[in-house]
Amino acid sequence: MPQQFWKPGTDKPRILEDEEGGVVFFAPSLSSASSSSSRFGYASIGSQRQRLPVYKYRTAILYLVETHATTIIVGETGSGKTTQIPQYLKEAGWADGGRVIACTQPRRLAVQSVASRVAEEMDVKLGEEVGYTIRFEDVTNPAATMIKFLTDGVLLREIMDDPLLTKYSVIMVDEAHERSISTDILLGLLKKIQRRRPELRLIISSATIEAKSMSDFFQTSKKHRGPEDHEFVPRKVPAVLSVEGRGFNVQIHYVVEPVSDYVQATVSTVLSIHDQEPAGDILVFLTGQDDIDAAIQLLAEEAHASRKISSGLIVLPLYSSLPRAEQDLVFSPTPRGKRKVVISTNIAETSLTLEGVVYVVDSGFSKQQFYNPISDIENLVVAPISKASARQRAGRAGRVRPGKCYRLYTEEYFVNEMSSVGIPEMQRSKLVSCVIQLKALGIDNILGFDWPASPPPEAMIRALEVLYSLGVLDDDAKLTSPVGFQAAEIPLDPMISKMILSSNQLGCSEEIITIAAILSIQSIWVSGKGVQKELDEAKLRFAAAEGDHVTFLNVYKGFLQSGKSSQWCHKNYMNYQAMKKVIEIREQLRRTALRLGIVLRSCEGDILAVRKAVTAGFFANASRLEAFSHNGMYKTVRGSQEVYIHPSSVLFRVNPKWVIYHSLVSTDRQYMRNAMTIDPSWLTEAAPHFFQNLRRPDPIAH
Ligand code: CDP
Ligand code: MG
Repeated sequence: MPQQFWKPGTDKPRILEDEEGGVVFFAPSLSSASSSSSRFGYASIGSQRQRLPVYKYRTAILYLVETHATTIIVGETGSGKTTQIPQYLKEAGWADGGRVIACTQPRRLAVQSVASRVAEEMDVKLGEEVGYTIRFEDVTNPAATMIKFLTDGVLLREIMDDPLLTKYSVIMVDEAHERSISTDILLGLLKKIQRRRPELRLIISSATIEAKSMSDFFQTSKKHRGPEDHEFVPRKVPAVLSVEGRGFNVQIHYVVEPVSDYVQATVSTVLSIHDQEPAGDILVFLTGQDDIDAAIQLLAEEAHASRKISSGLIVLPLYSSLPRAEQDLVFSPTPRGKRKVVISTNIAETSLTLEGVVYVVDSGFSKQQFYNPISDIENLVVAPISKASARQRAGRAGRVRPGKCYRLYTEEYFVNEMSSVGIPEMQRSKLVSCVIQLKALGIDNILGFDWPASPPPEAMIRALEVLYSLGVLDDDAKLTSPVGFQAAEIPLDPMISKMILSSNQLGCSEEIITIAAILSIQSIWVSGKGVQKELDEAKLRFAAAEGDHVTFLNVYKGFLQSGKSSQWCHKNYMNYQAMKKVIEIREQLRRTALRLGIVLRSCEGDILAVRKAVTAGFFANASRLEAFSHNGMYKTVRGSQEVYIHPSSVLFRVNPKWVIYHSLVSTDRQYMRNAMTIDPSWLTEAAPHFFQNLRRPDPIAH
């Protein structure tokens, strides 16, 4: 085990903006810190609630929300923003008369976790007074739900049906510092909605001090070219409240020399903390399921090699696709005499709170989406985090008592090379879904939309181009009827929506809906660690020569024939939880399809129809095997990018001449995940303009 050498370092404390920056400070004396717990009737859990930093600001928050259209609340992770503020609002009457308090989160996992926590605190059944909605899962009761947690993406969809979001009295846009695409679109739209609904209250809450830019965004009005926005309207100045945390001091340690393998470095750091430091849980930040699994494996090996050092360690992974039961383990208290090590993605950075963490190990990396509009390739890559993220991560160590944070990078790197804040997702993503949503909401002038951060025009043009070739937008960049409007109704990537719509004419909607449901799941197979050979053999039992999409149909059929049996899944190295989810999503998609007038029909084994429907949606992802390639190199038809079939595909090493793929993942190379063979003539059939002389709709029209 290589030894890490550490050097204690400093990290400037976070500086709050002064009065000029618009930050309003409320002294705790203004608050209701002394009121009794029984007032709210949650006696047992009440005192716990009162100990949270946000409690001192209860009166102040309610006062500001009462008197301001928009209130911005900044407070450290764990101070009680998400779980408490919606309850305060309910107690103050904001949910009376059938109105609903909404609280959005960028992450699905956080939505479920905070909703069940709040239901527990209020001693109600989840799905009644307190509910949640994420894509494909609605746990609310319209007649009873007063506090509703939902992803920002789901709230955007609700705007399609109810443009002024009339049922909500207060909308809390939480975790605004994450600047997800949906959060940004939502902020732009809520600003518009507020003009029509002065009684609507917004709360923007954030863990980092970027309150100034948010506050500016809500008080200035951008002049639009849209007909409804001719006048320059001054905005009411938003209130800004900073919740003083109760975080303890965190001692920062940097490595003396840069580390070459952060997974290995993580493992040795965890073991040396366990060996040398007093009790307290360890939270490790890695980037994704692959390196988390690798670290756990390595820890297990080292533990085996040195039984003494590692006894008493409980090692747990945390990432968003983790099954529910395993998530619950992460949040359960550490048994006496044991030390919990949670190895997490940046999901534990701000949106989830883990009790008992005293040590943080920060790899300095996270997985981030980057989109290159020129090559039209979107990649989830391991990239350095920002200083803001590094501070958030360190802060996780000071929740219960003074803690320590071990940064696996040098102080010099932190000071001189790390960027101070991250890039908003809007500026590094493919915008196809974003554009179709705005179009469906009647926002025609997308470049002129009032964005918190403008998207790059090239990415916007690319998105318009794809939507045009899918037949979703017309020459004037307006949604086509019916295809465009129908595609916008389906809560999936427009390419999948188009595939579903095309299956209607081709008579294979039942099969295509199955494929769409499976493509929405990260993987239906168990993860291949240690069972790769068995997994490959299992896949072979279902493999279709046409590729992964058709293989999915075989898998699904087998699952149904087994009576949806978990033993059957186990035997075939299939993830039973994922298959159950597929059934659920499929059911939702069936309902959506019926609503759109799609006739549910099976092609009874006519696989050609299925393949043509897939091509109708995914023609833009076509690639061709290089003529003299001995290593399976393909080039994408559109961008001439070098790509390879992913090892998890049933077409790996088969290398048919023409394929289309569902998505690209990049590790050492660009890999096509979920590939299917095609006849190239289908491409021009599906999208003549796209492959011949490309016509571009004018994005700035109107
Ligand atoms: O939103 P913010 O980060 O400010 O805090 P929060 O999520 O409201 O969490 C407040 C407290 O509730 C945390 O300190 C946790 O102790 C507790 N909590 C929990 O036990 N389980 C959850 N699922 C969420 C919060
Ligand atoms: Mg929160």
